[in-house]
Amino acid sequence: NRVDWDLGEVERGGYDHFMLKEIMEQPSTLRETMRGRLLEDEGSVKLGGLTGMDDELRQAKRVVILGCGTSWHSGLIGEYLLEDIARIPTEVEYASEFRYRRAVVEPETLAIAISQSGETADTLWAMREAKQQGATTLGVVNAVGGTIPRETDAGIYLHAGPEIGVASTKAFTSQVVVLTMMTIHLGRLRGTLSQSRGREIVRALRQLPEQVAEILKMDNEIRALAEQYKDSKNFLYLGRGYNFPAALEGALKLKEISYIHAEGYPAAEMKHGPIALIDENMPVVVIAPRDGVYDKVRSNIDEVKARGGCIIAVVSEDDEELAGVVEHVIRIPRTHDALTPILASIPLQLLAYHIAVLRGANVDQPRNLAKSVTVE
Ligand code: AGP
Repeated sequence: NRVDWDLGEVERGGYDHFMLKEIMEQPSTLRETMRGRLLEDEGSVKLGGLTGMDDELRQAKRVVILGCGTSWHSGLIGEYLLEDIARIPTEVEYASEFRYRRAVVEPETLAIAISQSGETADTLWAMREAKQQGATTLGVVNAVGGTIPRETDAGIYLHAGPEIGVASTKAFTSQVVVLTMMTIHLGRLRGTLSQSRGREIVRALRQLPEQVAEILKMDNEIRALAEQYKDSKNFLYLGRGYNFPAALEGALKLKEISYIHAEGYPAAEMKHGPIALIDENMPVVVIAPRDGVYDKVRSNIDEVKARGGCIIAVVSEDDEELAGVVEHVIRIPRTHDALTPILASIPLQLLAYHIAVLRGANVDQPRNLAKSVTVE
């Protein structure tokens, strides 16, 4: 009796593609990223990889985050987190720009290199440049034992397991969780985050895996949406605050696997140019959870509607207002403002995935792309 083994299928855990498997496993990868690291009662976290670094972390005057692609997007969320919650001046740089632009690295700078693979050439060299100028270097890496974690002074692994699909999904959500934990650690250490506010964020982190699992149940609904929009030529993704980077990430997912042109923009910046593109053929994905900038995003939605744009809005589960205004709503659970980009990015990963599959694209290995870019 011969058993027909499709080794690929076994590795893909029964899913058609690694990308879908990796999207679907996020409840467990997020759990792994947080395992043993949350101290709820203390409103704090325990990060073994930062042991012995307290002095450097307390004295740091500035943070520079370095990364490329999706890792740069999570870095942008890191900037918002570190400034909002830990109150440390932070900037995010494309590693490829930082490397060659004679950037000034002041004393007592922390350089955080974010990379799923730990091997991206531009990120590695940008980190080396920062180190050579005297920065303390930290790695936020998924692949254990890569070059970046070997050369940084300290770091935190994602523990999200191997990511095979070229489009980064589970690494992104775990990167944001690690940056959140790092922010809590810095905030508590430096006295800028109180125990009770720390506790709120830790609690919200703990709820994430179940909330992500809830969102993943909408897979069929999102596939139906993909059917409707798969032939669009362009997409615009808008978000503000913590969800501006999520808009960039949603657009990147769509363009890299479906080859549809997509742009991500801070919602209010739209009126400085991209608004000219909007007509009834332009799907506009707006990330609009009930967070601190909800009212502002709401008025940007009206601006798009006034130009005939067709809106897919990612909203909070209890939002009664937007359903009557936009063409489609995708509902996500409530969470801490800083964690909304994690929840918002899940349906956008699924949307990109289904559109790409419906267009017959090779989602796991899109044309012209490599999983790890080790050339400059
Ligand atoms: C994401 O979907 C991309 N394929 C790509 O932008 C990627 O994030 C980038 O090349 C950085 O890779 P790294 O995280 O391994 O450094």
